[in-house]
Amino acid sequence: MRIGFAGAGKVGFTLGKYMTEHNVYVSGYYSKSVQSAKEASVFTKTRYFRTLHELAAASDAIFLTVPDRAIEEVWNELKQYSIQGKCICHCSGAMDCAVFSGIGQTGASGCSIHPLYAVNSRLQSYQGISEAYFTIEGAKEYVAFWKEFFERLGNPVKVIGTEKKVLYHSAAVFASNFVAGLFETAVSLLLECGFDREGAQCALRGLFLNNCRHVADEGARTALTGPIERADTKTVEKHLDALWGNEREIYIRLSKALVMIAEQKHPDRNYSELEQLLLEAERSGKKI
Ligand SMILES: NC(=O)c1ccc[n+]([C@@H]2O[C@H](COP(=O)([O-])OP(=O)(O)OC[C@H]3O[C@@H](n4cnc5c(N)ncnc54)[C@H](OP(=O)(O)O)[C@@H]3O)[C@@H](O)[C@H]2O)c1
Repeated sequence: MRIGFAGAGKVGFTLGKYMTEHNVYVSGYYSKSVQSAKEASVFTKTRYFRTLHELAAASDAIFLTVPDRAIEEVWNELKQYSIQGKCICHCSGAMDCAVFSGIGQTGASGCSIHPLYAVNSRLQSYQGISEAYFTIEGAKEYVAFWKEFFERLGNPVKVIGTEKKVLYHSAAVFASNFVAGLFETAVSLLLECGFDREGAQCALRGLFLNNCRHVADEGARTALTGPIERADTKTVEKHLDALWGNEREIYIRLSKALVMIAEQKHPDRNYSELEQLLLEAERSGKKI
């Protein structure tokens, strides 16, 4: 299988390098700018192509590692060429293979292959991608192939249904982007308490990292601590009195989610008073 990349950015560099390091045949790169394609070819010791047509002719599988907004445009060009029997993949988490409109008529097959990983560097991320969990969605005749392909490289892989792709991607947003939003909320509250930004980040670092590690290793139920888990209604009431606006709204909604986890953890503990408090706070909209 000769694998080519259209889009020499962070993911293109990373997957290409990762594959060549594992002796997978990478035919090379095409990109919007020839300079990026050349750089990727040097980095991976492969070739670069001046046109998508040439890349397609030299590859059995073509990964469209372009930004999500460009996948359809690149596909619309690619489908004009002879791609019968080839597998066309993109790496978007939010999009599925339906973006490859009319692929049936071309004789090619389409898949989406998403690394659950923050690929933030063209040159460094390949070193950590072995830890990434991959999800694969798409053409039946290829999902088993790609599952085995990435498992052989050492990655855990899950095949997911097309209809679940957006829901799946929202899970990734909860576990990464929203956590960044919550961390920033905590920083802004500490700024109000007289910390400077650097001091606030430093103060939260240990708490944040240790907690994340526990949650990731043992699951939220085991890792959960704090006033909600203890059913400490008085403390939660004080927090609600001290908070306002968006922060108070987030506090109420997440507390409700935590009560559900706490109830599973301690079925013998009574959370009804706390639930009532949160319900009233939500209804009254006080200070929001
Ligand atoms: N970064 C992540 O953490 C991550 C994780 C999982 C999945 N993904 C997915 O991976 C895909 C690529 O993301 P990325 O982070 O690698 O983006 P990126 O770093 O912005 O790279 C995209 C590359 O695509 C090229 N490009 C743009 N439009 C093009 C076009 N019309 N034709 C050919 N090449 C074009 C650009 O090349 P030039 O340099 O030549 O202009 C750019 O280098 C996206 O679908 C994204 O959702 C990203």
